[in-house]
Amino acid sequence: MSVTVRSFAKINLGLCIGPLRPDGFHDLRTTYQTIALHDVIRVEVARGSGIEIRCKDPRVPRDQTNTCYRIVEPAMAALGAKGRVVIEIEKKLPVRGGLGGGSANAVAVLLALERVFKKQITAAEKMWIAADVGSDLPLFLLGGTVLGLGHGEEVYPLPDLPSVACVIATPEISISTPKAFADWDRLGAPAKLTASTPSDRMLMCGRRFSAWLSGLSQNKIRTGKALSGVLVARGRGRAENPLLDLVRTGIENDFERVVFPQYPELIKVKRVLEDAGAFYASLSGSGSAIYGLFASRTAAARAVARLRKSGTPAVATTTLTRQQYWKKIFD
Ligand code: C5P
Repeated sequence: MSVTVRSFAKINLGLCIGPLRPDGFHDLRTTYQTIALHDVIRVEVARGSGIEIRCKDPRVPRDQTNTCYRIVEPAMAALGAKGRVVIEIEKKLPVRGGLGGGSANAVAVLLALERVFKKQITAAEKMWIAADVGSDLPLFLLGGTVLGLGHGEEVYPLPDLPSVACVIATPEISISTPKAFADWDRLGAPAKLTASTPSDRMLMCGRRFSAWLSGLSQNKIRTGKALSGVLVARGRGRAENPLLDLVRTGIENDFERVVFPQYPELIKVKRVLEDAGAFYASLSGSGSAIYGLFASRTAAARAVARLRKSGTPAVATTTLTRQQYWKKIFD
């Protein structure tokens, strides 16, 4: 039996890097948001043993360096299952793009294996397995808008932000996340740039998130409303869209401080998105994907055309609420 899963990508709505911890990870605070852009994963289990990864994209590793490969063993153990696991990856997301493509692929394999064996692993155990394979995996067990703490693996579902038009620019630059973290440390970025310690910055970032979250809990969510309508409402006072509230907290992605100086062409991409009318544009994760959020699909399509004209691959998509994520994942 084979199971097909859509493996949706994520963007980071702000990412604050904290101190390097004794375990080699950095503390971080981020809001993850799933988007409709996805790879397709097919999982089949045959007689025998072993793991085989098939993918036409030569950049995708077929060995244990692939997160899909690494999740099979703990998943099979949790399911009490045996067999030869064949994973086919239809790659559409950029490799090392900061969109969580590899992490999402691995979670898709975990969910597919449950279906193949018609057995459920408890939610808590799935979280353990996912977090053990990589910091960016657990968010894909929630989908929608997700608060990421710890080293990114400690995730909390947030009330969903309304679905908005989104443009993903994918410059052909491959960025290693561990290297980006190491570069951040080498720069001594927080201390030099803001004259505050990493812990101070984390505290500040935490307070901003907390203020935003308290706004969310005061029932300001207008689910299902078109963002354009909300933008119009801005003239009448405080916008009620929680995404705009988040943007107004001054959220930033700290990785921009290390990645942009190394690849100045990325700054230009962000500028094109802003000039094309994005109400927020940012590097996603450690990049090199840059996204822009737009008030309408038309505006997003115009931005895509501008980016392509300037030689940057780009696609228009939308953010996915938790409900949309789970509805479309096995469709
Ligand atoms: O968890 P993941 O496998 O994605 O992490 C890869 C590497 O990225 C880690 O070994 C670490 O060097 C770095 N990292 C980090 N802080 C994080 C997440 C990842 O330093 N919060």
